[in-house]
Amino acid sequence: MITKSIKKDFPILSRKVGKKQLVYLDNSATTQSPKVVIDSLTDFYTNHRANVHRGIHMLSEESTVMYEQSRKTIAHFFGVTPSEMVFVRNTTEASNLVAFTFLQTLKKGSTVMISEFEHHSNLIPWQIACKQLKLNFKTAPVNSEGELDLNFIKNSDFSFIAINHISNFLGNINPVHKIIEIAKEKKAYVYIDGAQAVARVPLNFKKLDCDFYSFSGHKIYGPFGIGGLYVKKQILESMPPFMTGGGMIVDVGIKKSSFLKDSEGYDAGTPNVGGSIALASALDYVTQVGIKEIAKHEHAVLTYMYESLLKVSGVEIYGTKKVSNRAGLVSFNLKGVHSHDLASILDGEGIAIRSGTHCVIPMHKKLNISSSARASLALYNFKEDVDVLIEGVKKSKKILGGYNV
Ligand code: ALA
Repeated sequence: MITKSIKKDFPILSRKVGKKQLVYLDNSATTQSPKVVIDSLTDFYTNHRANVHRGIHMLSEESTVMYEQSRKTIAHFFGVTPSEMVFVRNTTEASNLVAFTFLQTLKKGSTVMISEFEHHSNLIPWQIACKQLKLNFKTAPVNSEGELDLNFIKNSDFSFIAINHISNFLGNINPVHKIIEIAKEKKAYVYIDGAQAVARVPLNFKKLDCDFYSFSGHKIYGPFGIGGLYVKKQILESMPPFMTGGGMIVDVGIKKSSFLKDSEGYDAGTPNVGGSIALASALDYVTQVGIKEIAKHEHAVLTYMYESLLKVSGVEIYGTKKVSNRAGLVSFNLKGVHSHDLASILDGEGIAIRSGTHCVIPMHKKLNISSSARASLALYNFKEDVDVLIEGVKKSKKILGGYNV
């Protein structure tokens, strides 16, 4: 069971905002790192910093071993092999990588499908790549609660589908198992954007049997600037390179070069060595706490947050009403109040949430709203944090007076 003492692992949580205690509820934008992760980054820069795979001196050897060990730890955490775990800066880089490499291998005229409620990073790369490569681009509709029309997907022809595992705007957990099953019947490839799922769902990419799965390290208590893209071995072997240069080659000639056909083939240039090492230590931390425990704990707090917000008159919540199909976050509006105004009042109370369109403008348009407020959880949030949020929302309502009850 996760107890409140876990907050002590995260130095930033003891910060004050003015005179108020920080209540951090912007975890879908980024999670905070425990001290062990910060220490591992400091240790690398203090004691081991050197470039990898490019030197035979002691520091370079140490750094290379630590870097490759981190890839192993990260790959094993997700049930895959290190040669299938491509390092990227973040989930956005992962979708761009696949859009501008793998999609080249599809026949002209093939169809790429996404859903109507994707984060811009799981929309724009496919939009642009489809245009350049003369592929069809199709969207699967969702209802006003963001629930996917699986029949539409079943009855459509497509060769590739990119879908979020958990919506960063609505918090809906998508039926990725069913989507993978449907795609397999069509011999279509599946790319899953796991940015919001990675710290909230126990994941084994092999068992899931998707072709691609992407995530950012900073969403799972790791540092910024490092993330992972799982690519099934057989696919990786046939994919063209993305960034090219040093570190990803087999041989180079003036007219022609050959490239590595595994995860290292996507390591052009000096990689984020410290970031990878710190990400591995974040995953070790998560393993120690237990991802199943985290999922259970977070869902209990989420249910409390959802139900508490529902009770505040004037609050409109977006996403599925089936709380068991939600994870980690609630987006909402206070009637008559702009989400930035609400977030600003909450900030004065020490509460950090996100407001705006959360990089999901099309779904905001579909719901006919200009923006929303979003409170999102992590393993260190408890019901008490939700109580502070609810008090803050009620206070905002009084101050802004947008809705008279
Ligand atoms: N994708 C992140 C979010 O939803 C930044 O806030």
